[in-house]
Amino acid sequence: MDHFNYFDGSLCAENVPVVKIANDIGTPFYVYSSATIKRHYDVFSQAFKAIPTLICFAVKANSNLAVLNLLGSLGAGADTVSEGEIRRARAAGIAAEKIVFSGVGKSRDEIRYALGVGIAQFNVESREELDMINEEAEILGMQANIAVRVNPDVDAKTHDKISTGRKTDKFGVAWEDIIDVYEFTKTKKNLNVVGVTTHIGSQLTDIKPFKQAFERIKSLVINLRENGHDIRRLDLGGGLGIPYGRENPPSPEEYASMIVETIQDLNCQLVLEPGRLIVGNAGILVSKVIRVKDTKDRKFIVIDAAMNDLTRPSMYGSYHEIITVNQSEEDLEAVDIVGPICESSDVFGRDRQLSPVAVDDLVALRSAGAYGATMSSTYNSRPLIAEVIVKDNDYKIIRKRQSYAELLGQDIIPDWKE
Ligand SMILES: Cc1ncc(COP(=O)(O)O)c(C=O)c1O
Repeated sequence: MDHFNYFDGSLCAENVPVVKIANDIGTPFYVYSSATIKRHYDVFSQAFKAIPTLICFAVKANSNLAVLNLLGSLGAGADTVSEGEIRRARAAGIAAEKIVFSGVGKSRDEIRYALGVGIAQFNVESREELDMINEEAEILGMQANIAVRVNPDVDAKTHDKISTGRKTDKFGVAWEDIIDVYEFTKTKKNLNVVGVTTHIGSQLTDIKPFKQAFERIKSLVINLRENGHDIRRLDLGGGLGIPYGRENPPSPEEYASMIVETIQDLNCQLVLEPGRLIVGNAGILVSKVIRVKDTKDRKFIVIDAAMNDLTRPSMYGSYHEIITVNQSEEDLEAVDIVGPICESSDVFGRDRQLSPVAVDDLVALRSAGAYGATMSSTYNSRPLIAEVIVKDNDYKIIRKRQSYAELLGQDIIPDWKE
């Protein structure tokens, strides 16, 4: 359920007409519903009430400070993958003790920063990384809390580019090496093993790969404990999918009861890292029609948002439902909805059924709250777009549209001294 519905034929975000925001701030822009974010967070956390659980929102899905602040106020921690994300989480008011640091390539500087602020745990991806964390912790005279990320060699059956738990993926420590790597931690006096972690992919719509992976993790925890490792925390990552179109992913309740059933008797604290599930359907991208280009073969609707603003369709061939902001009684027609960028992949939808639109009409791309703004760029020298959040009948700008002065102002023409 989300909070983007038509009232009197006009699309509203909660109780704010989208057209009002467009008139006030121009297009394109992202708009998020605080009620949807809150609802998704509440449903998810309620589903896990049987066991002590820390929900670390995956900051990469939506890193806007206002969104993080809202989630933090609901009790969320943060799953981060860079110093920038840790800084964002902290700037949004999330305590360091609720921040986990994942990622296959943490730099020495990032490790030092994370140790310095006292994050909850490093999710470590290799023996080499363990070495580096140990060195840095020793310099700072402290213990680093670590969990090793296991690659359970499970195919998540999701898009190839967002699958992370197969042997051939770059993530985690291979299943056959994992015991050795935990044994290796015993030789490092500045490492404090607190748990085990895994994350097998994103946008999973089938529960089976999760179950397969988590059963393997359970057997690993038992084995590690027998080897004297004090495993108290289980971080099972994120990845639960959402309906973009016709997908029918497991509900949070179904996912939670499978997890609780699988791991309850281990008596671990659970950490989860949902991203998309919390914010995906809590945001839309609003754009204006620039041109209707009618050719012999196809009708192209060129809109003012492009692949630099929402990358998922061009990068993963992802589906986003596209609707008009003003409801119409007219017959639908088949159109291609495209952006203005000079790449053939700058296409949001082919052969979509849309009611007829004209120049300056507004359209909305649904389910754009996750991996939308965070993956945007300034390709084609297009300024980063605005982000807005609504709460009931009020809205606030939570990221200003980048100005051309800001866009150009980062570049420096060198003044070579001859
Ligand atoms: C380590 C880790 N945790 C959590 C997530 C969040 O995944 P999702 O947004 O699918 O829940 C990701 C994203 O791929 C990730 O890499």
